[in-house]
Amino acid sequence: MDEHLDPATRDLLARDERVFIHQSLSTPCLNAIDGADGIWLTDLAGRRIMDFHGNSVHQVGYGHPRVIGAVKRQLDALPFCPRRYTNETAVALAERLCAVAPDGLDKCLLAPGGTSAIGMALKLVRYVTGRHKTLSMWDAFHGASLDAISIGGEALFRRGVGPLLTGTEHIPPPSWGRDYFGDAQTGERFWAEYVEYVLSVQGDVGAVIAEPMRWTTVEAPSPAFWRFVRASCDRHGALLVFDEIPSALGRSGHMFVCQAIGVTPDILVIGKGLGGAVFPMAAVLTRAEYDRVGDVALGHYTHEKSPVGCAAAMATLDVIEEEGLMDGARALGEHAMTRMRDMAGRHEVIDDVRGMGLHLGIALGDALGSASDAAERVLYHSLGEGLSYKIGGGSVLTLCPPLTITRSELDEALDIVERGIAVLS
Ligand SMILES: Cc1ncc(COP(=O)(O)O)c(C=O)c1O
Repeated sequence: MDEHLDPATRDLLARDERVFIHQSLSTPCLNAIDGADGIWLTDLAGRRIMDFHGNSVHQVGYGHPRVIGAVKRQLDALPFCPRRYTNETAVALAERLCAVAPDGLDKCLLAPGGTSAIGMALKLVRYVTGRHKTLSMWDAFHGASLDAISIGGEALFRRGVGPLLTGTEHIPPPSWGRDYFGDAQTGERFWAEYVEYVLSVQGDVGAVIAEPMRWTTVEAPSPAFWRFVRASCDRHGALLVFDEIPSALGRSGHMFVCQAIGVTPDILVIGKGLGGAVFPMAAVLTRAEYDRVGDVALGHYTHEKSPVGCAAAMATLDVIEEEGLMDGARALGEHAMTRMRDMAGRHEVIDDVRGMGLHLGIALGDALGSASDAAERVLYHSLGEGLSYKIGGGSVLTLCPPLTITRSELDEALDIVERGIAVLS
């Protein structure tokens, strides 16, 4: 910030601080932008920043002409739809989502954001199973509302806020078994048995709720783990709810992560990139047999069937399919993994590299002092060179580029990351 911010930017940041209620992770802001195009952000001083963070909304990049065109046309045709009516674009989107979803997920509700969709899924679980208890993971994030932080496990969101939902049981995150037992396979086996144990000993858990690939740390338990959990849920009458809010829609190399691992949940929640990096959009997909609580409100959100959001989502799905972004994510992801493995061979500070499609993680260790200090130093070095990304779990550099990125741009970004890592030693 000291090196790059000009007076106009500093003034805007000061106004931001004065007018917005301060909150963790949003205040103070790092910089101010006035452009977002493809993989690039542009700040007020005209510096371009490659965005490998994007709050996970930018599978199709920023300002994709198909998405912007569809939104503009929809604004002219029908800008809003009051809840007692429906509209062609919303129905078409729901039909399309059910068509691309794994077999058996034939019903859909739209929502104006991922957190709201998680809340809807929690209510659906209660109505369908008659059980209010849930099992989710410590350290997980499923949104920032009170119901979502109750099933979430991040201290930052839960600490000091007072009573949360009751019956929200938690198990350790994926890394626990691996770290505790020292080898990934044994750890995962014990972790799976832990889920089975909690479900059987409690006997009244309504749902297991998890990300099939943990977003912040880029950790994907094996398909065998999820098959085991699926069977446990079936045995004990619990629904399996997958939160794919940041991870769905092509990034894994498949439309949905659950298709990559071959395990179908009872409820699938998506969001983020569904709105094409323009509009807040999310959806809950579930089995037709669970469409049986027509006399209660699951969502009832004002912007539930927004024609504009639905137009953005339809165009987003068109782009993902027609531009071959899923194949691209697989190919570019493999290329990046090869480069990251090479990097790990050159830098002892790298503990692990991992990825699924174009979601990549470089986990730093303590070889050169505190891993989290090292991660911050690498991040700030990268920001200085015009690359933005997120640190997950304190020390994992998480790289989440738009799927429209070219191979040479991806290489340029990995070069920047490696230069930052080299500076550590
Ligand atoms: C895994 C996961 N679930 C839920 C959410 C909440 O989504 P939203 O912020 O769109 O409400 C997020 C947001 O980061 C997320 O990463």
